[in-house]
Parts: sequence; C-alpha cells; structure tokens
Amino acid sequence: MAAYEDLRSEGKPAAGSKTALPAELRYLQYRHSLESQYLPAIRALISKDLSEPYSIYVYRYFLCQWGHLCFMAIHPTDSSLVGVVICKLEMHSSHSPPTLRGYIAMLAVAAEYRGQGIATALVKMAIDAMTKGNADEIVLETEETNIPAMRLYERLGFLRSKKLHRYYLNGNSAYRLVLLLKESATDFALD
Ligand SMILES: CC(C)(COP(=O)(O)OP(=O)(O)OC[C@H]1O[C@@H](n2cnc3c(N)ncnc32)[C@H](O)[C@@H]1OP(=O)(O)O)[C@@H](O)C(=O)NCCC(=O)NCCS
Repeated sequence: MAAYEDLRSEGKPAAGSKTALPAELRYLQYRHSLESQYLPAIRALISKDLSEPYSIYVYRYFLCQWGHLCFMAIHPTDSSLVGVVICKLEMHSSHSPPTLRGYIAMLAVAAEYRGQGIATALVKMAIDAMTKGNADEIVLETEETNIPAMRLYERLGFLRSKKLHRYYLNGNSAYRLVLLLKESATDFALD
C-alpha cells in the first residue's frame, strides 16, 4: 500500500465538521459493469490522501482480477462513493507449504464521513470474503504515522509482524500487519 499523507491532524474531522451518516448507507460489492460509474470516484477518493498516487493500471490490476474483493460504501441519495476497500487473494509461494494470502491494498473513507464505522464495516466485508475464499492470512502495510488506520486494524485483530524501515518514497516507515485466519498460518506470521 502506498504512503498516505500524514494523517495525525486529519484522521478524524474537526469537531462539528462531520457529516451525519445516512441511515441507509449502501454497501456494494464491485463488479466490472460498475467500472465506468465508480472507477473515477474510487481513484479520486484514494489518491486524495496518497503521497504517491497510483496509475489507472494499478486499479485495473486489482479490480479486473479481484473485483469481488472490493467493497464500496455508497451514499443513498446521490449514489456517490463514500468509502472503498480494494484487496487481492493469491498464493504466497515463498512459504512451504505455500499459503493463500489475502492482501488489503487500499482503503479510504471520505473525510467528512470518517469516525462512524464505515472503514470498519468495509474491512470486515473484505475479511469475510477472503475467509470464504479460504485465505490462510490477510496482510497489509500501513504507515507508522497513520494512527487511525493502525487503530482500526489492531481493533480487528491484526498484529504487527514487521517494521519496514523507510518503506515509502517519502522516507516514512511502515508496519506490516497480519491477521491470522488459520492455526497453520501462525508459523508464517513473521515472514
Ligand atoms: C483510516 C480510515 C480509512 C478510517 O476510516 P473511518 O471510516 O473513519 O474508520 P472507522 O469509523 O471504522 O473507525 C474510526 C474510529 O471511529 C470509531 N467508530 C466506529 N463506529 C462508530 C460509530 N458508529 N460512531 C462513532 N464512532 C465510531 C471507531 O471506533 C474508530 O475509533 P478509534 O479512533 O478508537 O479507532 C480513514 O481515516 C481514511 O480514509 N484515511 C485516509 C486513507 C488511509 O489512511 N487509509 C488507510 C491506509 S492503510
């Protein structure tokens, strides 16, 4: 996952700036027929907080192969995109035996809707989908300064497996986080 801009002051909107969560917020699983309607909004939402924006090919790499592991939170009134999570699931062959590893590549919620459980709901949907896909573990990287993301993932049971020094182009370090879904994955937690 690319580096996000320093969120220490932005992780939660200032008091009073939060937009009330619509009761009927919709959650949608991505599918190819939604590309023209939602891919531009997905790129805009994710690149807003990224210090190293991704090209369109990166989005297509994930969405063409693992669109079923992308979940979107949609505003019920105007169908605009409020939040998104993008993942992949593939064999990780540096382990013996190989493990089926889920990877959370991108996660973002529009600033005015943060702090209301939307990212938590999206990540839980992604975890459920990857668990049903028989994943052994789910991993991701997040910038060590990204406190909202670290708290969210650790609350959901992710553990810090490795510190990646100066991982990002901006010089910041990251943590690799891992959620172990099966007993057998425990041995690989530190890989
Ligand atoms: C990180 C990010 C995705 C979190 O999104 P979010 O929707 O605000 O996350 P949640 O609302 O699920 O969780 C945030 C907080 O709201 C709290 N919360 C959850 N449901 C809530 C509710 N119904 N009402 C009030 N607060 C709630 C959570 O407990 C959590 O509190 P914490 O600060 O103690 O952890 C968001 O800040 C973001 O988009 N940041 C920029 C991109 C980014 O950094 N992505 C992650 C890269 S790894």
